[in-house]
Amino acid sequence: MCAMEIKKESLPTFTGEGYRIQAHSDHEHLYNIELEEHVIDRFLEEVQDITDEKLEYIPYQRLMVAHTLLELLDENFGKTIRHILNDRASGGFTIGLRNRTTDAQDYVKFSTALSHLAGIPNFDAMSKKYYARFSVKHTDDSDSYLRQAYRRFTLHTDGTYVDEPTDWLLMMKMEEENAVGGSSRLLHLDEWEDFDYYYNHPLASYPFTYKAPASKNVSEDVQRKTFYEWNNKPCICFIDQFVYPETIKQAQYLKELSHSMEESSGLIELELPIGDLVMLNNRFWLHGRDGFEKNPDLHRELLRQRGRFVQ
Ligand SMILES: [Fe+2]
Repeated sequence: MCAMEIKKESLPTFTGEGYRIQAHSDHEHLYNIELEEHVIDRFLEEVQDITDEKLEYIPYQRLMVAHTLLELLDENFGKTIRHILNDRASGGFTIGLRNRTTDAQDYVKFSTALSHLAGIPNFDAMSKKYYARFSVKHTDDSDSYLRQAYRRFTLHTDGTYVDEPTDWLLMMKMEEENAVGGSSRLLHLDEWEDFDYYYNHPLASYPFTYKAPASKNVSEDVQRKTFYEWNNKPCICFIDQFVYPETIKQAQYLKELSHSMEESSGLIELELPIGDLVMLNNRFWLHGRDGFEKNPDLHRELLRQRGRFVQ
């Protein structure tokens, strides 16, 4: 399989009651989902009594929030979300709250509705909840690049060091001040020119050891192959910070693979407005973040959820 052989067809448009789903104006593999404003207003009204705490303590409430959104749309909406996330031609979309609210609790509820239309989020050991909110700011003393503003956070997949499937991920921008740079960097596996070389390399299916840093609260190591098949298509599992090669040859393979992806012309930079989220298939999309320009007042808060498909 070669990136050049992929037949490029523009993504179809889906319209339904209260929403329109069409190709993202800037990125050919991504969709943008636009909910009508009255749908957003009505959704927020109907879930106004559901607190973050209720969502965290009572798992069925999370699915009920998804149900509330679905009731305001048509029955195809949930199916279309899952179809897009599974569809190799896309595998991702953006959607937002269109400035109808700036309340952080509303962001949690909205992201919960979307994640539970896709499937079920995994327990996030860093936050000890089904979602995690975290800040990127001028100073940071953490033990990974997640919260370090001025470094490029290189392309990777999530869930590499946990022993459970991580089919999709959701990232939502909750707050941002004095931020220049720091855009999301995304790469669809089929857009990577050097894919063939690394996929056919003898180390492509070598089970590398992945270990999490202390802040992730995950103590067991796992073995992961860099490339594997899913739905009869090649997929990738990789993050430079948590993979432990044992030989110089292995280290070279990983280093060159990471470098090649960073240099890929297929890489896209996504600007996410506050109140918008992106959902991606975590098996054939890689994600990362560019460094920010230095600013002592820099502040960004993000929400993330990662999970598996159920239906
Ligand atoms: Fe990540």
